[in-house]
Amino acid sequence: MAGRVLITRPIPEPGPDLLRESGLDVEIPSEDRSLTREELLRSVRGRDGVLCLLTDQIDAEVLDAASGCKVVANMAVGYNNIDVAAATSRGILVTNTPGALTESTADLTWALILAVARRVVEGDEEMRTGRFPGWGPLHMLGGDVSGKTLGLVGPGRIALAVAERAVGFRMSILYAGNRPNPAFDAIGARLVDLDELLAESDFVSLHVPLTDRTRHLIDSRALAKMKPTAYLINTSRGPVVDERALVAALDSRRIAGAGLDVYEDEPRMAPGLAGCRNAVLLPHLGSATAGTRAAMSRQAAQNLLAALAGRRPPDLVNP
Ligand code: DGY
Repeated sequence: MAGRVLITRPIPEPGPDLLRESGLDVEIPSEDRSLTREELLRSVRGRDGVLCLLTDQIDAEVLDAASGCKVVANMAVGYNNIDVAAATSRGILVTNTPGALTESTADLTWALILAVARRVVEGDEEMRTGRFPGWGPLHMLGGDVSGKTLGLVGPGRIALAVAERAVGFRMSILYAGNRPNPAFDAIGARLVDLDELLAESDFVSLHVPLTDRTRHLIDSRALAKMKPTAYLINTSRGPVVDERALVAALDSRRIAGAGLDVYEDEPRMAPGLAGCRNAVLLPHLGSATAGTRAAMSRQAAQNLLAALAGRRPPDLVNP
């Protein structure tokens, strides 16, 4: 297959090799960093396909610079970084990588649930700084996880994988979304509206894509509906939460704590968040295992190859 492809940043194999083995001319910048806007606009020129990452803003201007491009393959399940409507109107296919990162993101969601409830990070810090006063009946008490209620916002694959793990913790499981999912019903989860989920859950975990409807879905009003003993977990997209409102809720102990992997304005955080002792903060690691990133790389490359071969890519997101 002839054609010129840009991969916007070094990614794990096997994606790049798959593209090269198919005969494509593949350009990958040598530095492990996001391209600047100017570099991106320059680099997409003359490409038949672009394999990009969630940190690349692929908007109308970039798509115009990429005139002749047939496909933009995002190596992520979320594709809020791509203006899909602008791509569609230019006849450019857009793909993502659903499935590949479901289990690793569910695992990390659970890492946050356990870490924030059981104060794992605070405990680790106490040990490392020599401040462990010795066992005490009041020392560093956290929240229970087993037998509690888990509320999942968004009835998709990752939420289901989180729910499946919760069965082992004998949790009651609620989920909110615009459609029932029989797979949730099969494990005893109950579909409720968002207000009921917020009011009833001990852990509220977010698993929605970022859209105009979900931006700031969790704002001060939503936070006020949560139990004061409840924890908010976010491994979806940062702007789903009004981060300043969250800082206020954490500071005032309006909620017990938060486990966050994503932020409104990555890589920055809202003022005050870093000082919240009741928050566990991770640097967007949901899919960050070697196996998952390799699977995402393969899936993105396969989508791109299908599009360039004139086939319907398996993970097409254009309507
Ligand atoms: C995704 O694929 O959307 C994840 O956020 C990447 O870690």
